[in-house]
Amino acid sequence: MKTKTETLKPVAAKPGSPEYALKVSEMRYRRLFETAQDGILILNAENGEIDDVNPFLTDMLGYSREQLLGNKLWEIGPFKDVEASKAEFRELQRKAYVRYEDLPLETSAGKAINVEFVSNIYRVNGDRVVQCNIRDITKRRRAEEKLKDYSRKLQVLSRRLVEAQETERQTIARELHDEIGQALTVIQLNLQALLQSTAVKNDLTPRLQESLGMVDQVLEQVRDISLNLRPLILDDLGLEPALRWLTKRQAALVGLQARFHAEPLKHRLNRVVETECFRVAQEALTNVVRHARAKSVHVDLRKVGTELHLRVRDDGVGYDVGGVREEAVRGASLGLLSMDERAALAGGGVEFKSVRGKGTEVHAWFPLKWRTAAETKPT
Ligand SMILES: Nc1ncnc2c1ncn2[C@@H]1O[C@H](COP(=O)(O)OP(=O)(O)OP(=O)(O)O)[C@@H](O)[C@H]1O
Ligand SMILES: [Mg+2]
Repeated sequence: MKTKTETLKPVAAKPGSPEYALKVSEMRYRRLFETAQDGILILNAENGEIDDVNPFLTDMLGYSREQLLGNKLWEIGPFKDVEASKAEFRELQRKAYVRYEDLPLETSAGKAINVEFVSNIYRVNGDRVVQCNIRDITKRRRAEEKLKDYSRKLQVLSRRLVEAQETERQTIARELHDEIGQALTVIQLNLQALLQSTAVKNDLTPRLQESLGMVDQVLEQVRDISLNLRPLILDDLGLEPALRWLTKRQAALVGLQARFHAEPLKHRLNRVVETECFRVAQEALTNVVRHARAKSVHVDLRKVGTELHLRVRDDGVGYDVGGVREEAVRGASLGLLSMDERAALAGGGVEFKSVRGKGTEVHAWFPLKWRTAAETKPT
């Protein structure tokens, strides 16, 4: 193979002759080599000497063609980890094909770059040559790292937000239950006592009855708001009793047959795992109530190795998971996405399986993390 640029001279051979065809093909190769937008390095496969290098690579590395030609691969700056480069060359001689997704190199100005490096061995006129294709991926790598960094930050932010929201909900739920609920209970008891007392004039009875009715109603509403915000049973007794209560409550809304099964857990789970597992189950059960038109719903909570598995299964109408997910990503709904997000925040995941006419299963798994002594203290 000719490796010098003078092969770009006009073709001298007679058109139609084999020499002419060879010259044309050499010229085409040469043009490709000279104009390629990837670095190309041609080495002698026996001793590792650089036979040729294209302009793109000299620009990328900041070395002139003359500085590179005739040197062994490991004698030039960019591949200065001599032992590693020699080992890579031996590997190439052995395997005839080597690929590095991300190889760090250094330019003549000392700038670190990342390249994708692919080399092949082939024969040219009986000689074995190595062709190395070198693509600068520094920008891509930086963009990927930036993206990873953003996604990490977003996840931290999202976790903080969810935690803050849960703490707030817990405070308001407790306040409603303990303070306002208690005060209303006292009023309720007093009104009942007054109604039974002979000291109260008969014409006041209807007004007392009306007041008692209103207190009963408000008390009921306060309880509901408190439960919907965050049921105290979750913080006071833990995940298992809370899920049992939730399953029964949701099923009763539409007269579903409910079955709940949970393996007893020896210790309280970490607060984040408890909260996120409860929220995933809550959304899955709400979906059953709102969309499934099912006869029954089964909720299981099991320990599997180092994980906690939640399954919510209904025998309702089912749906097309792929289609609904696509719609959800476009902003049509939040439920499935929030289950994904909530499980991921606790270090777990979810999977939706649904068959039209047969029903739906939501599987969620979480790391089995236990509550620390500091977390066990009452809040
Ligand atoms: N158990 C189920 N049975 C039948 N269809 C379901 C079930 N769960 C979800 N779906 C379907 O998937 C769609 C998306 O559910 P998703 O929970 O994301 O949204 P949503 O419940 O409609 O609204 P929201 O954002 O308030 O949760 C539902 O509208 C419904 O068509
Ligand atoms: Mg929903």
